[in-house]
Amino acid sequence: VDAEQRNLIEHMKTWVIQAGQRIEKARESGISYREKTSLRDLVTPIDLEIENFYRVAIKKVYPTHKILGEEKQGEQAKSLQGSVWIMDPIDGTLNYIKQADNYVTMLSYFKNGVGQVGMIYEVSAKKLLIAIKGKGVFVNGHFIKPIGKQTCLAQSLMSVEALDLNDALSLYEFSQKSLGLRITGCAGLDAWQFALGQTGLYLNHLFPWDNAVSVIMADLLGFKVTNFKGESLNLLDREYVVMAYPKIHEEFLTYVKEKFED
Ligand code: IPD
Ligand code: CA
Ligand code: CA
Ligand code: CA
Repeated sequence: VDAEQRNLIEHMKTWVIQAGQRIEKARESGISYREKTSLRDLVTPIDLEIENFYRVAIKKVYPTHKILGEEKQGEQAKSLQGSVWIMDPIDGTLNYIKQADNYVTMLSYFKNGVGQVGMIYEVSAKKLLIAIKGKGVFVNGHFIKPIGKQTCLAQSLMSVEALDLNDALSLYEFSQKSLGLRITGCAGLDAWQFALGQTGLYLNHLFPWDNAVSVIMADLLGFKVTNFKGESLNLLDREYVVMAYPKIHEEFLTYVKEKFED
């Protein structure tokens, strides 16, 4: 890690931890919320506040950098050219509201489309996952070993969300090919569990701020995170996402292909 990278990492760590403290404090004093696009898509004032907090902090240190954030609290990056920050101020807002647990804040930094550093902070557990290009993935400072031996779906748990997948893919039927189905309601936690090897397959319909850290981890740990055609994700758009090591990734793509042939 060179001086520039070390600086960047230190800034990011400070910001996500401060964000976590603000999120917790807000929760303790009671959360209000409103519907965004539907009954199941809620947003709190803290989602907006945290995105603003990140934007101000970044602009102070890196005034020329571009930003892409879920809550669109400022100018949105329109390309991945140059230095781009991708953020999800609270990932798992529904969990935040209903469970007071199982949510994260996510922040990543990309240079010309290549992920440099990504962080997922699990606020209530005070656990910080850091993915550093060329170095590895760390949880509270402990190096995460890449999975050596690949297993098949029949020997793995899988996690999903996005109910719209169910009709299109007979997802529940497909899940019977795995050991069992898990649903967390938080894309960041799904990616985290996957990185630890707790699940072998993750499927969802996600936005760039949900996918950014996963894309960085995929290179470091050797797994695949692609759309349902097996193509790399477009980090400026919403995508159907499959996350898996090559063997299970292939199993899933084959299933999708067969499904759409008939
Ligand atoms: C949501 C969560 C959830 C996923 C949704 C996301 P949000 O993020 O990550 O797991 O299934 O598609 O929108 O809105 O709580 O940041
Ligand atoms: Ca949201
Ligand atoms: Ca969010
Ligand atoms: Ca999210």
